[in-house]
Parts: sequence; C-alpha cells; structure tokens
Amino acid sequence: MSKTEEFLKEAFAGESQANRKYQAFAAKADKEGYAQAAKLFRAASEAEAVHAKNHLWAMKAIRTTQENLKEAISGEDHEYESMYPEMIDMAKADKLKDAEMSFYYANEVEKIHSQLFNGLLSNLGKSTDAFSYYVCPRCGNTVGKEPPAVCPVCGAEGKLFKRID
Ligand SMILES: [Fe+2]
Ligand SMILES: [Fe+2]
Repeated sequence: MSKTEEFLKEAFAGESQANRKYQAFAAKADKEGYAQAAKLFRAASEAEAVHAKNHLWAMKAIRTTQENLKEAISGEDHEYESMYPEMIDMAKADKLKDAEMSFYYANEVEKIHSQLFNGLLSNLGKSTDAFSYYVCPRCGNTVGKEPPAVCPVCGAEGKLFKRID
C-alpha cells in the first residue's frame, strides 16, 4: 500500500468518526437548548460525510454490489468472531459495564447483519421480494419486514424501532 493509500484510509476513518460524533453533539446541543450550535454540528457532520465519501471513492473502495456484500460479510464476521469477543472479555476484566454492554449489543447485531447480507447475496437479483427494515434505537438490532414486539437483543419496545427504506 502506498503512503497516499494509507493516508486515504486514515482520513476516511477520521472523517467517518467526525460525521457520527457531530450528529451526537448536535442532538446534545438540541437537548441543552443551543439550536444554532446543533445546526452547525449537523452542517459540519454533513460536510464530513462528503469528505468521507470522496476519500472512499479515491480509494476505489466501492465495487459491485455483489463484491460489496461479500466485503460487508467478511467485516461483520470478523467483528463477531474475534473483535468483539475479545473486547467484551477486556471490558469485563476492567469492570467497565457501559463498554461491555456496548460491545455486547454490537456483537449480537453483527451476527444478524452477517446473516442478512448472506441471505441477500444468495438471492441477489433473483428475489423480487421488497420490504423495509427496522432498526432498534438502543442496540442496533436489524430486522426485515416487521419489528418485533420487544427487541430480543436489548428489550426495547418494538414500536421504537426506526423504519428504513
Ligand atoms: Fe454490522
Ligand atoms: Fe435492541
């Protein structure tokens, strides 16, 4: 990998993080009554998303949907097979409950993502079945067609799930 390619990877990671961080900062600013700060955080977040997408494009990292699904599966598999289990163990050892819970939620849901991507990959272009997905706002659990009455991962009410089209 050339130095420039390494920089693109690093810059993509940084911009992606800033995008999500500014979204969270905007929500906090709204809660604290700082409407203008919230707007600026949202605007900057949007701009960081543009930068992240441009870096990804320059890395030639967006391929065909079939290849992208395969890449997504290998990423999700790595997360629940080795990355999160190690992180969960460490959080337990450090007695950091919030971290343990956050890793646990992600770990459970990455398994589900891998299954969803796998199912879709094997049917890509074959099935005409069209439906929405629902995402749990607490743990990220991702479900097709209908939300559950109660989230099986975290116990949140199904009516809180966000519909994604
Ligand atoms: Fe995932
Ligand atoms: Fe959940």
